[in-house]
Amino acid sequence: MMEPLRKIVGNAFYDRFGESPQFFVRAPGRVNLIGEHTDYNDGFVLPIAIDREIWIALRPRKDRRVLLTSMDYKELAEFTFNDLRHGSGWTEYVKGIAWILQKHEYRLNGWEGILGSNVPVGGGLSSSAALEMALSRAFYVVSDWRWDGKIMAQLAREADHQWVGIKSGIMDQLISAEGRVGHALLIDCRTLALESVPLPDTTRVVILDTATRRGLVDSIYNQRVAECKQAADFFGVQALRDVRMEQIESRPHALPEDVYRRARHVVTENARTLQAANALRRGDVVQFGKLMDASHVSLREDYQVSSGELDLMVSIARERKGCYGARMTGAGFGGCVVALVEKDEVEPFVENVSIEYYKESRLKPKVYITEAVKGASVE
Ligand code: GLA
Repeated sequence: MMEPLRKIVGNAFYDRFGESPQFFVRAPGRVNLIGEHTDYNDGFVLPIAIDREIWIALRPRKDRRVLLTSMDYKELAEFTFNDLRHGSGWTEYVKGIAWILQKHEYRLNGWEGILGSNVPVGGGLSSSAALEMALSRAFYVVSDWRWDGKIMAQLAREADHQWVGIKSGIMDQLISAEGRVGHALLIDCRTLALESVPLPDTTRVVILDTATRRGLVDSIYNQRVAECKQAADFFGVQALRDVRMEQIESRPHALPEDVYRRARHVVTENARTLQAANALRRGDVVQFGKLMDASHVSLREDYQVSSGELDLMVSIARERKGCYGARMTGAGFGGCVVALVEKDEVEPFVENVSIEYYKESRLKPKVYITEAVKGASVE
């Protein structure tokens, strides 16, 4: 059994500072069950916060400095609030959060601490959103303002856009901030309304990491964002959320083929996500699984963000007993597949999928059987 992260970062803090930390904060990674590439189109998503987390053990400082050591990276995050400079690597997220909070006139106090993580990096499980939400909690716990998950998620996205340079949507930060135990969260990315949808306890959410990572993901991602905007402009709406299926079907040749396909994915995916949330509420896991499968096909054919390995993993998973549905999850191009699997079949499922995937790709997959956990907190 792995030692809990709380204990690991607590011990590391003690070794470094010679006393116990005053606070622990944590925030989870996420996996999206359905609703992919819909968030920046003002659409719907259905993610869960997963039991892979970032923890920070910390104590306040009397000055306006932050000193944060990561257990995984050599580089230290070290800065004062009135001297924030761009650099590179994980420390940009720390500066980005400090920068955006200051920009919105949150009064910041200094702190120092140790950070530990078991969220896989670069696999589409939102280690960076978990980092941002853990940091927001850290700044909050040494200060005297109120923590509001929705506001913090929006600020973190703004930091992503303006400090880090990634045009991400709101899903990752919002689920990391607001996750609910045992539930998926249906998020309306326009109004930010949240609705908890219980996960049936006869099933398990299984994450299958293809062990592939692609370069240039950020630029392809930003390109998709631009294509969606082009389609929304064409239909004369604020976002693709406002386009109806009939509109898409009646104008197949009015847009460049690629842009048309992007729009069709977003419009159909929004519909699938709402249907999937309904199916889950009824406990209809068979229907839910079918919608996951259809989502994958649409991401592969229309949105074109899948990869050979993701497709292989999905098809191997789909052939196994007890698997209701499987699809790529997150931005795509590499990373993870998510599958919904009958609880009693999980063990053979994991074993068989791992063997088969290795046989076909010569890559060793990582597998996480995950639970839905609560969002960012002070512990
Ligand atoms: C990344 C982004 C999210 C979302 C997904 C695709 O994870 O950070 O905002 O757009 O890709 O659904």
